[in-house]
Amino acid sequence: MMAGRLNAAMAAAFVVSIGLLWVSRPDASRPNVEFLPEMAHSPRYAAFEANPVFRDGKTLQRAPAGAIARGYPPLHYAATPEDAVRAGNELENPVSSDDQQALTRGEKVFETFCTPCHGAGGRGDGLVAQRGFPPPASLLADRAVGLKDGQIFHILTYGQGNMASYASQISREDRWRVIRYVRSLQAVAQRQTARR
Ligand code: HEC
Repeated sequence: MMAGRLNAAMAAAFVVSIGLLWVSRPDASRPNVEFLPEMAHSPRYAAFEANPVFRDGKTLQRAPAGAIARGYPPLHYAATPEDAVRAGNELENPVSSDDQQALTRGEKVFETFCTPCHGAGGRGDGLVAQRGFPPPASLLADRAVGLKDGQIFHILTYGQGNMASYASQISREDRWRVIRYVRSLQAVAQRQTARR
């Protein structure tokens, strides 16, 4: 009997306190009490603001020499055919072959950066080649099919012969994705040859 009454009283007190809290809310869009406000609103400098903490008086500091961006370890390769072969043996494509989204992105990258020379199907008949640029060998030929993904990554990163480096235009991730797309073009071509 006692316990029942106590429970009821506590439930009532709870409802009343919630009600009071609701009624006394000064601004419905803000929490009533901010607990440890210094943590939520810590003092900070805007990127381009003067800053007395640093010796050069700037907030935005240059990265220390030798700093490496997370996820971008340096590639220790030279722009040589030998190092292209080494890259082929050492690097693996991090994009899986059944990643449809990556393939769609790779197709877009190919259309933008590769079709002018290599042509939409990779046969080396792009508009630039039709207008006199030395035409590249077909990407569907045995040689290109036999290149390892890492070697193609090296070609895209450092260039090869008449083809320039695409390192500054195409991110590393997109380079791996476009390689997957080249592989899909090759696979379709190989299936067509097999049917003939
Ligand atoms: C400005 C024209 C041009 C563009 C754009 C271009 N390439 Fe090339 N590519 C070439 C030429 C020319 C070669 C042949 C280079 C050589 O070995 O002399 C070549 C070679 C290659 C090779 C090696 C083929 C082999 O058999 O050795 C691959 C792989 C390749 N390109 C992929 C690509 C991809 C992928 C893109 C787009 C990201 C691209 N290229 C953009 C002109 C171009």
